[in-house]
Amino acid sequence: MRILVLGSGAREHAIIRALLAEDARHDITAAPGNAGIGADVRTLDIDPNDGVLVASYAEAHNVDLVVVGPEAPLVAGVSDALRERGIAVFGPSKAAAQLEGSKAFAKRIMEAAGVPTGRAEVVGTLAEAEATLDRFGAPYVVKANGLAAGKGVLVTSDRAAALAHATQWLEHGTVLVEEFLAGQEVSLFVLSDGEHVLPLAPAQDYKRLLDADEGPNTGGMGAYSPLPWLDENFVDEVLETVALPTVRTMAAEGTPFVGLLYCGLIVTDAGVRVIEFNARFGDPETQVVLPRLLTPLSGLLYGAATGELGGVPRPEFALDVAVGVVLASEGYPVAPVTGRALLGLDTASADPEVQILHAATDLQALSADATSSWATESPVATGGRVLTVVALGSTFDEARERAYRAIGSIHLEGGQYRTDIAARVAASAAD
Ligand code: AMP
Ligand code: GLY
Repeated sequence: MRILVLGSGAREHAIIRALLAEDARHDITAAPGNAGIGADVRTLDIDPNDGVLVASYAEAHNVDLVVVGPEAPLVAGVSDALRERGIAVFGPSKAAAQLEGSKAFAKRIMEAAGVPTGRAEVVGTLAEAEATLDRFGAPYVVKANGLAAGKGVLVTSDRAAALAHATQWLEHGTVLVEEFLAGQEVSLFVLSDGEHVLPLAPAQDYKRLLDADEGPNTGGMGAYSPLPWLDENFVDEVLETVALPTVRTMAAEGTPFVGLLYCGLIVTDAGVRVIEFNARFGDPETQVVLPRLLTPLSGLLYGAATGELGGVPRPEFALDVAVGVVLASEGYPVAPVTGRALLGLDTASADPEVQILHAATDLQALSADATSSWATESPVATGGRVLTVVALGSTFDEARERAYRAIGSIHLEGGQYRTDIAARVAASAAD
């Protein structure tokens, strides 16, 4: 199959690796990709947010399927541009992507669909924000009502900090004040063709920068899958109470959701609650979910894109567990230092159970040496989250040991990573 993958993160690298593992003959192009993706497939220097360019390329090159990785192309309407030309695309329309792009839209759909979620109010002034914070009480949850690159959410018990956050985001639009939900977080990816849904395996993401969930929120510092502590019926329950009603409501409202419905959930004492929807695969959860997938990914994505998931059996997963640890640059998430050399990648990927999935990496020319035939380019870090190291194992201890051995052999000056990814689940499994 001829497949174009849009994006340049470790999530897209994981998608590409899963497609290649299923069938090495797939003809895959990534736009724009990164250094690691470029070592696996052809990369293309076009702006993934430019629907006209992407659709023209896909048409000219007879692409069978376009897979949209990040949210930005969705919100920019790239899926619409492709659909208009009859090109199969895995990713929702601009209108349906509001499920992620507008928290107020998502709350409205959840209400219409009867999906369990925390109480929330959209506020437009500081006085309204203050009144709502006091009504809900501490801890306070304040969210920017739009895409904010992971920086829009503040959870705090400090009323002054909550108000300051609201003040800052009110300058850019409205703000959501939400009821605090206590419990374990779970990410469940659900494939949708607009009508039918199929679940992938649950994963858990680590959003805070530092060990023990300290420090600022980030895009995600690590993940593991499966979640052995979940109820046996968890996935069925989320399909029945969250995914299906949401997909039905979206269709009834004339904005059918085709692509990946990312259900960001909290398991509270009172039951499962939705904290957020995303309209695309999660990062870094994808990096631990897809290596366990046994069912061919291309068939699932193409089936969703073409409205043919009805009657398709649920995807199957290996019993192996996967642990993913993100390596981030010094200064992430506030002001990542870029341009530093990444060394030791070959050693780190020597273990066949380990994958190094690249995100913010590029190849930089070494000082020209005309007399040498050695490699003249070396990888450098170009952004905040640089790569995810993913290891499979038959136990969490084994997968953790592999992942941390591999990441320990990578050198990035000032590089940071959490040392406690999947530590608790490994400890409880060993009991
Ligand atoms: P979001 O960007 O909406 O996923 O929020 C980022 C993180 O903030 C989530 O992963 C949670 O850890 C936390 N969070 C968001 N909303 C709530 C809530 N209502 N109650 C508790 N924690 C929350
Ligand atoms: N891992 C969180 C996200 O992808 O939004």
